[in-house]
Amino acid sequence: MKKESTPVHTQSVRKPMLELLTNGTWARSPIWLMRQAGRYLPEYRAVRAQTRDFLDLCYSPDKAVEVTLQPLRRYDLDAAILFADILLVPHALGQGLRFAEGEGPRLDKITQAADLAKLSVEGLMDRLEPVIETVRRLSVALPPHITLIGFAGAPWTVATYMVAGQGTDDQAPARLMAYAQPDLFQKLIDLLVEATASYLLAQVAAGAEVIQIFDTWAGSLPEKEFTRLVIEPTKRLVALLKAKAPDVPIIGFPRGAGTRALDYAQATGIQGLSFDAQAQLPTMAQVSDHGIAVQGNIDPLVLVSGGIALDQAVDDLMAAMRGRRHIVNLGHGIVPQTPPDHVAQLIARVRAFQA
Ligand code: CP3
Repeated sequence: MKKESTPVHTQSVRKPMLELLTNGTWARSPIWLMRQAGRYLPEYRAVRAQTRDFLDLCYSPDKAVEVTLQPLRRYDLDAAILFADILLVPHALGQGLRFAEGEGPRLDKITQAADLAKLSVEGLMDRLEPVIETVRRLSVALPPHITLIGFAGAPWTVATYMVAGQGTDDQAPARLMAYAQPDLFQKLIDLLVEATASYLLAQVAAGAEVIQIFDTWAGSLPEKEFTRLVIEPTKRLVALLKAKAPDVPIIGFPRGAGTRALDYAQATGIQGLSFDAQAQLPTMAQVSDHGIAVQGNIDPLVLVSGGIALDQAVDDLMAAMRGRRHIVNLGHGIVPQTPPDHVAQLIARVRAFQA
């Protein structure tokens, strides 16, 4: 009798990142890096040089697809993250936004009810349609073992930029508004919960397989405000996503949450928790003992350094996370001065643990 061979198209291709987050088994330790597409790559700077500004890059599907794929051509990564920015949501709500060269984002500040009244979810998804088109194209273009990550900023972190009009060291304008004008601030948070849910569900419909919620400034709040402004809105956002897309894993990144990390993960209902570089490895292990996948947490500056310090950081991390549901990542985004070779060194060192 003729021996049958399995046709190529029915062979299942393993997606380590998605499998780790869903059924708990995985072919190898998945790795991806926050800001894996960006200025540290010369090929990114070349595409960026052809665009009018950073927003133009985010809203041009051809170019956004290209820069999303660039790090995957260089490195053996397990995931691609949509190229976009957390500030596209306020922009699509109608808030003025520009990225001044070498200065970071500048938004029209929200200081009073009249400023908030100008913003609306009407037309939100029309303005964000080019980003959704980027997701559609990526879901077709990506190799089958690569997981496609969609993302948005958490309501609190996005609100800090909307109120201050720019990045700040201490998020003082938003923290102050949350105390002095609580009703106004809550309306802003509510608007962001609604808009962000629509945006993320559209990313999922277009092919995003995992969602990450970036709460970069979660660590700047006292205990009560952390519950009210970080946990509660994220919990509502997660519930809106789970109602329509119950199977899509969500990773939260409450940077600086410290001892509140487990509390955040359990209260919000996320499947994965991304840790900053300050988090202790036993804390990560403890959170993973509660059935939550953990991600992180190499210091972006040890990646700049490279050498023995980088090897040692990888070895310590891998030893502490051995046998656990762990996604290798940095504790925050890659910084522009990172030598691209050091990223290759990091990945090779991680892969050595699975040999
Ligand atoms: O990770 C990726 O590769 C995907 C793309 C991505 C960008 N921003 C591209 C970007 C993601 C996931 C983000 C998230 C983001 N954006 C966050 C949360 C994560 C974090 O880093 O804390 C925040 C706070 C922002 C807001 C933002 N965007 C700031 C403050 C700045 C200016 C500072 C800087 O790094 O330039 C940006 C610009 C930005 N977003 C760039 C990139 C590649 C650089 C812009 C350029 O090319 O000129």
